[in-house]
Amino acid sequence: MDFSTKAFDSTKAGQAGLANAKTDCLVVGVFEQQPLAGLAKALDVVSKGLLARMVKRGELDGKLGSTLMLHEVAGWSQARVLFVGLGREDQFSPKSFNEASRAAARAVMASRASDAIWTLPQAAVPKRDTAWAVCASVLALRDATYRFTQMKSKAEPANTALRKVIFAVAPDDLKAARVAARRGEAIGNGMALAKDLGNLPGNVCTPSYLADTARKLAREFKLKADILGPKQIEALKMGSFLSVARGSVEPPQFIVLKYEGGPAKQAPIVLVGKGVTFDSGGISIKPGEGMDEMKYDMCGAASVLGTMRAVAEMGLKLNVIAIVPATENMPGGRATKPGDVVTSMSGQTIEVLNTDAEGRLILCDALTYAERFKPAAVVDVATLTGACIIALGHVNTGLFSKSDALADELLAAGRTTGDTAWRLPVEEAYQEQLKSNFADMANIGGRPAGSVTAACFLSRFTEKYEWAHLDIAGTAWKSGAAKGATGRPVPLLTQFLIDREAR
Ligand code: BES
Ligand code: MN
Ligand code: ZN
Repeated sequence: MDFSTKAFDSTKAGQAGLANAKTDCLVVGVFEQQPLAGLAKALDVVSKGLLARMVKRGELDGKLGSTLMLHEVAGWSQARVLFVGLGREDQFSPKSFNEASRAAARAVMASRASDAIWTLPQAAVPKRDTAWAVCASVLALRDATYRFTQMKSKAEPANTALRKVIFAVAPDDLKAARVAARRGEAIGNGMALAKDLGNLPGNVCTPSYLADTARKLAREFKLKADILGPKQIEALKMGSFLSVARGSVEPPQFIVLKYEGGPAKQAPIVLVGKGVTFDSGGISIKPGEGMDEMKYDMCGAASVLGTMRAVAEMGLKLNVIAIVPATENMPGGRATKPGDVVTSMSGQTIEVLNTDAEGRLILCDALTYAERFKPAAVVDVATLTGACIIALGHVNTGLFSKSDALADELLAAGRTTGDTAWRLPVEEAYQEQLKSNFADMANIGGRPAGSVTAACFLSRFTEKYEWAHLDIAGTAWKSGAAKGATGRPVPLLTQFLIDREAR
């Protein structure tokens, strides 16, 4: 889909010009319980009061997320005009803007329109600027048009005729809106990559496939890719990571992808993504129901690669390094057994009481490896614990950090993008649950606060830098009829980096 930006001022003359604009579909926002204003008013005038009559009859009520498509109205220059309810103006918020955008995207796509003029960013969103509204609109449109058809044997017809969207903004906002549209596209591309990788089946998206994806990104966007295979991983003494890979015939891959957009001596931000391309549970094998969804256990890796794509496409002036330990977690004759003790790259020993708590076992070695980059901050992203879904459902990503400043930055990035996180504790008091009679620590801490003890486990490998952990078990994909990857938390991570560049 092609996105562009055009200036239309909000004066009466400007709105009249917009009301006359030639397009397949003009998208217009209307507030609830509010007289017709701005563009809707201008359209009402040329239609000789049609809209006012519809409002009176209750057919155009501006209820949040409602849509009304009018065709070939006498006096209007467009074949279609789509009215989108923005809800009550006194309750208008970034959230309601996004809801209206999603509804509008669905309605335009369902029509036969091949191009549209999208005027929703003209409605002032409290605490947000026009650039934000343009970026959010791009993301809503991209999300609605995303499809995963790679594995179908026959080409499927496109789900929309929509090819081109023009954002109508005030002349003063034009420059910022252009940048925002490009950024929205970059984030949209990053999310699409994350969704594709997540949705691919485990027999296609293997550790080697993730490595190839990183190589391809490196080629396309001038990043540096260092991919380490089993021999090199062994040489680094990543005994914990390797203990997870032992049961699989797929060779593990340790992926390092560098984006150097900032000054050479600027400390990088390191993003670490859990890349378990299939989590059977290993010898502590999972029950069969819903096990297919454990192909999504590499969504941390996918979001980190998607964020690298977005950052590189935007050309952020910042150094960012992605680290992805990639492996399958399978049972097998050589697989790690409950009770086995393994030695991590840090030298700390771990008693593997449950081979299904494998995410932390691969992440801990990646976190130790990250030390060599003397990072400004490290953020790991992982579908780490089922307990996180119990705690936060599918709404918020779990955020853990000992640093209030870093936690606040990530929470703020989540609020800006609507890709939200909620902070949970990483406190010393939980560490005792990880006591082992035989090694420095156990890899599980029992049922209570399962997400917290997982974060506490990771924290033991992050003493050398500022660190935060995102548990995306509940937010990375959807189950049920709408089963599919969400692309989260690419928006949160990218916004965090955008904000870092600006500070
Ligand atoms: N990948 C899973 C976590 C998961 C489960 C994410 C379901 C999303 C949906 C992880 O490797 C795992 O199996 N965690 C165990 C930990 C337990 C053994 C301490 C869990 O959550 O049950
Ligand atoms: Mn597991
Ligand atoms: Zn897992």
